[in-house]
Amino acid sequence: MAKLPVQLRLNGADRATFVDPAEPLLTTLRRGLGDFAPKYGCGQGTCGVCTVLVDGEPQLACLTLAVACDGRHVETASGLADGPDMHPLQTAFMAHFAAQCGFCTPGMLTAARALLAHNPHPTREEVVEAISGNICRCTGYEPIILAILAAAAAPGARRA
Ligand code: FES
Ligand code: FES
Repeated sequence: MAKLPVQLRLNGADRATFVDPAEPLLTTLRRGLGDFAPKYGCGQGTCGVCTVLVDGEPQLACLTLAVACDGRHVETASGLADGPDMHPLQTAFMAHFAAQCGFCTPGMLTAARALLAHNPHPTREEVVEAISGNICRCTGYEPIILAILAAAAAPGARRA
């Protein structure tokens, strides 16, 4: 089957590649563009480890067609840090031991990033709701929730 050209912005950089018509964005990111932050878990939209932002909105990359992202801005956890400066969410995850095996962490960080971009001062309940589609088998969720609340409370924290 003929491949289709796709041009997108990935974490602020213009990228171009060719994809199969039915190729999931997750495959394109990992195999085609070398961004391994989004993980492959269930592959069917139930675990959240593949969460990315498409034009600022959280999407499951395993269920999103790569061709549908032509001309759009895709952001992954790889783009969170600003050079050597970690994003406040990354700092808070470290401080609260919110990552154990780390498999869920890029998706969690991305879901949290979307939350704080839209709602800089969420309640605990809003944090729980925002990460409700992201499964973590290790932490029991409490450290993750506390880390996101801490990042939200950090003075002058970068939100986006
Ligand atoms: S791999 Fe996409 S939701 Fe599980
Ligand atoms: S830290 Fe292991 S799945 Fe969340």
